[in-house]
Amino acid sequence: TWKLTDFADEMIASIRERVGDDRVICGLSGGVDSSVVAALLYKAIGPQLSCILVDNGLLRKNEADIVVEQFTNHFKTDLHVVDGKDRFLETLKGITEPQEKRRRIGHMFIDCFKSESESIDGVKFLAQGTLYPDVIESGAAPDGPAATIKLHHNVGGLPEELGFELIEPLRDLFKDEVRRLGIELGLPEHLVWRHPFPGPGLAVRCLGEVAEPKLKVLREADAIVIEEIMAAGLYRETSQLFAVLLPVQSVGVMGDARTYDNALVIRCVNTDDFMTADWTHLPYEVLGKMSTRIINEVNGINRVCYDISSKPPATIEWE
Ligand code: XMP
Repeated sequence: TWKLTDFADEMIASIRERVGDDRVICGLSGGVDSSVVAALLYKAIGPQLSCILVDNGLLRKNEADIVVEQFTNHFKTDLHVVDGKDRFLETLKGITEPQEKRRRIGHMFIDCFKSESESIDGVKFLAQGTLYPDVIESGAAPDGPAATIKLHHNVGGLPEELGFELIEPLRDLFKDEVRRLGIELGLPEHLVWRHPFPGPGLAVRCLGEVAEPKLKVLREADAIVIEEIMAAGLYRETSQLFAVLLPVQSVGVMGDARTYDNALVIRCVNTDDFMTADWTHLPYEVLGKMSTRIINEVNGINRVCYDISSKPPATIEWE
């Protein structure tokens, strides 16, 4: 049986040997995979690592702060935070088609990442959190089907023309192994156990055109569903839970007044591999609490629905 401690030690040794005196950059997304890669690289080469976090304004509530805290206060890495919020919003203006949204976000991410990486001297390597299932889904594995249902902009990673050699230390691992490795490397539980989050972020959960007021509503509602599942002690038992803001208004009544506000969907799934997924049978009390809190606390939502579709035929994300 193989042990993760051995894996970590061997990986750290091999990274050190390969990198030598050169510099490595690593993109941090807020998620588990990139955090584990950065932690591994930090253990291996410390000050020769530079991390880049592109804040696209599409992250979950407090997500960027959690990463910044971890990688500047806890691990003292050279962290570059790129504030790309306005640029991402600008490129998404007027765009409603999901694939086009993904395409634009992918391009903007590359632009932001590229220009920041050019400001760092002597970079030879790029470290990425590609996992084994990504390798299969992107069709890179000889036995894998090419996934063309959605453009996963971060699968296959940044383009080769950036000119860096790739370091992909998680290429042979599954998600649960990555999480265990993260704990082993000293990352906090709350970061390691975060539900996966798509590269295009809240943009694919804010259906239709993306704009900051909608994102704000979505971010707040999303934070509430997560708080409530944690309060119920069910976070770790679910694979993914999030809110989706619909571009649909419905009539409601608040006090004596008529409202005409947006509808919001709660999506929760359980899955082993994210290729198929079942909708989670969350307790009614938990759903009720989420709904009441969202309608009371989030301005602009007067109706909450629960998504009871499994994958297939529905996908996990709505766009
Ligand atoms: P779907 O919606 O295809 O999602 O059933 C399967 C899993 O992939 C995540 N997802 C993405 N992850 N970039 C990512 O890194 C993306 O563009 C992307 N789209 C979907 C989704 O959250 C779920 O975990």
